[in-house]
Amino acid sequence: MTRVGILTGGGDCPGLNAVIRGVVRKASQNNIIVVGIKDGWKGLVQNIASDIAPDSVDDILQKGGTILGTSRTNPYKNPEDVAKVIENYKKMKLDALVAIGGEDTLGVANKLSKENKGLNIVAVPKTIDNDISATDFTFGFNTAVEVATEAIDRLHTTAESHHRVMVVEIMGRHAGWITLYAGIAGGANLILIPEIKMDIDEICTSLKRRKACGKAYSIVAVSEGATFKEGQFATQEKELDSFGHVRLGGIGEMLAGEIEKRTKIETRYAVLGHIQRGGSPSSFDRVLSTRFGVKAMELVLEKRFGFMVSLRGTNVAAVPIQEGVGTLKTVDMKLYDTAKTFFD
Ligand code: F6P
Repeated sequence: MTRVGILTGGGDCPGLNAVIRGVVRKASQNNIIVVGIKDGWKGLVQNIASDIAPDSVDDILQKGGTILGTSRTNPYKNPEDVAKVIENYKKMKLDALVAIGGEDTLGVANKLSKENKGLNIVAVPKTIDNDISATDFTFGFNTAVEVATEAIDRLHTTAESHHRVMVVEIMGRHAGWITLYAGIAGGANLILIPEIKMDIDEICTSLKRRKACGKAYSIVAVSEGATFKEGQFATQEKELDSFGHVRLGGIGEMLAGEIEKRTKIETRYAVLGHIQRGGSPSSFDRVLSTRFGVKAMELVLEKRFGFMVSLRGTNVAAVPIQEGVGTLKTVDMKLYDTAKTFFD
């Protein structure tokens, strides 16, 4: 074992650099060179990579984003790209590859591992969305929740002053984890997530009830992926990315408009967007990422290929990549029930 590649794919998230630092540190202690592949799978398709000097990662623990760059390139879109990935893995003289990513990047890692094409892959799950199965948490999630919670705290004071409804649109794709956690932590009065279809009549009734009993303002936290009950509103057709995902966004504006029209309560909306993904990782995420990075390199040293690092309770474990990518991990309904205790 002399050369190990590393790549980060999909949406960036706070903690990626801390994982890279963990991998490089553990590798250099075992006289292994880590090759940094640029921009996710794109770097393997196009053969763009360079060795990472161990000293160069000393100060990246606190830095958001990824020093390797990222892309949403899916080599399985073109069969020739898969062949290039295999060819360039050999050209780079890699003995193993650490692939850090969400369901898409890990889906590619899983396929490549299963197809037995000579690539030795260890995976690390990342995403602010926290929607990867077989791990209790992904890094990046805690930071996104902190950002969204702070935003909700700030919205309380302006909503209260103006006696308004404030709708806050939160990322998370088709899982409501960030919205649910930030909604609970920020004391939102309604939390709307993709796991439960929204009913505009119920939403408006609840907001009017709050107003009628003297609660002058309301905060509504809505996931970007939340949808209305069948027949209420049609979903907009939008462009798909190379993994077939629609670009989400816009539900906050739409919901705020409907609420104002139906309740006659002045309503505004805020979209947190990529602010949730940028900036420094929280201390929780720094610790989790560091543990994941070191564990990933340990799996490489043990030749446990086809495995993904995972948080199980308080332990960092290894699970087959397949378990992480099989199904989307949606929110814990018991936690949602707790949140509902505070809806009016
Ligand atoms: O998967 C992470 C995520 O931030 C989602 O919450 C969001 O829907 C998506 O990525 C946005 O992707 P992009 O950065 O390509 O706009």
